[in-house]
Amino acid sequence: MKLLVTGGAGFIGSNFIKYILNKYPDYSVVNLDILTYAGNLENLKEAKNNPGYKFVKGDICDRELADSLVKDIDAIVHFAAESHVDRSILDASPFIKTNVLGTQVLLEAARAKDVRFHHVSTDEVFGSLGPDDEPFNENTPYGPRSPYSASKAASDHLVRAYFHTHNLPITISNCTNNYGPYQFPEKFIPLFVTNLLEGKKVPLYGDGLNVRDWLYTEDHCRAIDAVLHRGKIGETYCVGGNCEKTNIEIAKTILKLLDKDESSIEPVKDRLGHDRRYAMSIKKISEELGWQPEVNFEEGLQKTIEWYKNNENWWQKIKSGEYLDYYKVQYCERNAHARYA
Ligand code: NAD
Ligand code: TYD
Repeated sequence: MKLLVTGGAGFIGSNFIKYILNKYPDYSVVNLDILTYAGNLENLKEAKNNPGYKFVKGDICDRELADSLVKDIDAIVHFAAESHVDRSILDASPFIKTNVLGTQVLLEAARAKDVRFHHVSTDEVFGSLGPDDEPFNENTPYGPRSPYSASKAASDHLVRAYFHTHNLPITISNCTNNYGPYQFPEKFIPLFVTNLLEGKKVPLYGDGLNVRDWLYTEDHCRAIDAVLHRGKIGETYCVGGNCEKTNIEIAKTILKLLDKDESSIEPVKDRLGHDRRYAMSIKKISEELGWQPEVNFEEGLQKTIEWYKNNENWWQKIKSGEYLDYYKVQYCERNAHARYA
């Protein structure tokens, strides 16, 4: 099978490419990535010399490029996106451009050649749950509340529209929060781990009682693999870890694993519009495709912390780089968070 993977230099995309090349040695992968602040070719050093792997630097919004790449491709697996909620609060424009327009350009390119399209999306499109609400499932009405989740919701709707209108062979997966190796250290778990490894404090938003459902990246890669190969065309599959945790719970676990005490937690002003709780039912994907998470949270977190301990070069380069610096300054000035003070 010949895959076009978009956003393959990011966190989940790079894990997915390595997973696929390892599991299916006869597959080939073209990785289309523009290398934003979040894209990093170091994530793919193990794939670099694989004859089945090719990197193309480019924008998913570039129709000509997309047309040229879908020739000879059996399927597109679409990860490319602006992915960080806090950045979408600062400036939504790149989110609309990449997540909405970029997805539409890829859909047009796929339509011209009738190419199978798998869209990687998020649970955040469903909005925010109360403490006693049932977890999200494939029938939950959309209710995105951040510019990030609104842009992902728009892209999901476009993908489904191309199925209903043009009969494009699509599938969608909506997954909960991922964690694991190569996650950019602006996201909660890698930010907390690397800050503590540097002897810094960790900025906990609001009362720390927001709930997320956590899934180890490799489990997410297996879920996408299952949907890509065995999913029913036109269908959506919800993916999650059956692992709801409050942020404070996770912060305390990380502190313990790194031999730190709670004085390292710095409570900071809450995120604007901070979604309270995400949780996901995985009934459909487990019953129809036999997928279940395999890595439990304690094991996954240990592995993740070990990875950050052993790959300090990787994250030190990022944390001292201009993209994170620019973001830190903007974030502090515009939101008046104490976080990076
Ligand atoms: P990431 O930010 O780590 O990586 C995104 C990648 O997309 C980067 O390599 C970046 O360079 C590339 N990219 C951005 N704009 C592009 C453009 N215009 N053209 C080409 N490439 C571009 O993101 P991630 O955490 O790996 O997330 C990947 C996908 O999974 C996203 O679609 C995200 O919405 C979805 N998702 C993420 C999570 C999570 O917890 N991280 C959970 C559910 C779904
Ligand atoms: P994040 O990793 O940004 O993922 P998302 O907002 O897409 O779920 O954040 C996960 C949770 O952690 C979320 O409730 C916000 C919280 N958080 C903090 O408390 N401090 C931080 O510095 C960050 C980045 C997140």
